[in-house]
Amino acid sequence: MPGPPCGSLLDYKTAKFSLTRNRRVGLLHRLLQLSALGYLLGWVLLLRKGYQERDAAPRVAMVTKVKGAAAAEAAGRRLWDAADLTWPPQGENVLFLVTNFIATIQQAQGTCPESPSVLDGMCTEDADCPMGNPVVHGNGIKTGKCLMFNATCSTCEIYGWCPVENGTLPRKLLLAETENFTLFIKNTVHFTKFNFSKCNTLQTTDPSYFKTCTYDPIFNPSCPVFRVRDMVEAAGENFGDLALLGGSIRVLIEWNCDLDRAAAQCQPQYSFSLQDTRYNFRTASYYWGSQQQLYRNLLKLYGIRFDVSVHGQAGKFSIVPTAVSFGTSIAFFGAATMVCDLVLLYLDGKADLYWKEKFEELQPAPSTLLELPQIELCRQLLGHGPQRQEGSHDLDEEEG
Ligand SMILES: *[C@@H]1O[C@H](CO)[C@@H](O)[C@H](O)[C@H]1NC(C)=O
Repeated sequence: MPGPPCGSLLDYKTAKFSLTRNRRVGLLHRLLQLSALGYLLGWVLLLRKGYQERDAAPRVAMVTKVKGAAAAEAAGRRLWDAADLTWPPQGENVLFLVTNFIATIQQAQGTCPESPSVLDGMCTEDADCPMGNPVVHGNGIKTGKCLMFNATCSTCEIYGWCPVENGTLPRKLLLAETENFTLFIKNTVHFTKFNFSKCNTLQTTDPSYFKTCTYDPIFNPSCPVFRVRDMVEAAGENFGDLALLGGSIRVLIEWNCDLDRAAAQCQPQYSFSLQDTRYNFRTASYYWGSQQQLYRNLLKLYGIRFDVSVHGQAGKFSIVPTAVSFGTSIAFFGAATMVCDLVLLYLDGKADLYWKEKFEELQPAPSTLLELPQIELCRQLLGHGPQRQEGSHDLDEEEG
């Protein structure tokens, strides 16, 4: 083995293989190789697109707009349009559409009996209403008197906005027309890594297109104008039930773009899911009456809260992820050989035989022994151990 010192630099050492016709290990080896190949082709290349560089954090811009009008028969007939029924008005990714409400009109500050729906407001005598204490979860501050609310119950008198809100919700939906309201979502994603932008609306020159179309997952997927009832039903809810007490619907826009293909194929998928049921809040509008008295109209609003979120990822061919994916697959091929070697040497019935064949014990040739000086001979005999290690090391190389 030891050649001239300079020549060894240019030597090429090749591994020596041992062939065995062991069917079981042969089959195992092929199976392992096949699964490594399946991993490479099926999982890495087809499913995970391991040859692509990815960008999963696009920059997102969004504008929403609600359209529609409804007439409600409560405290006089009144028409409500999108500007009255949508919060906030500027079109953000979270918006609230009123579907039902309780109106308490012309409240002024003064004294009146607390609503019997407030537990802490109930009383039987004046001592139950200590003066100056606020009613827990109530509408005002106790004045120290217990008043008859109606024939069956009495409640503490309070100082607050009077008369107090009537806590009973109308059984019938007051704003049933909101089912036909539409929500327009304009959404643009920008994948900075690939400098690629895409908008979810159809690029059209017809200005009336978005005024007439409605979204349909099959027939009209590029018209992002969603009917409210369709969205609630796509989330698996009944519009009438959800609208009565309010709720929250999540609208998810998912972009999954393969930029190795045509840009037109990069289209978002919309999905709807129910996040929460029961949603309401109160709001009031104030005005001055004729006697310079401040009044307010209180509204308890029930409705559907739409929470629009956008997820996106794009992939494009790149040499670095390709090399990494192939590298891991090749490592799996190497692992197949290693596993078969272990089976052959430790688990097989004839493991002893394979062991002997695989690890050759080297004996120094007698002819060289005679030629060597005495000292060198001793060194060689003592150094027997390390020599053996060197032998098995060679075979390790063969495994890799
Ligand atoms: C909503 O629109 C449909 C079809 O245009 C109509 O039949 C229905 O009566 C409308 N709903 C309400 C509550 O007005």
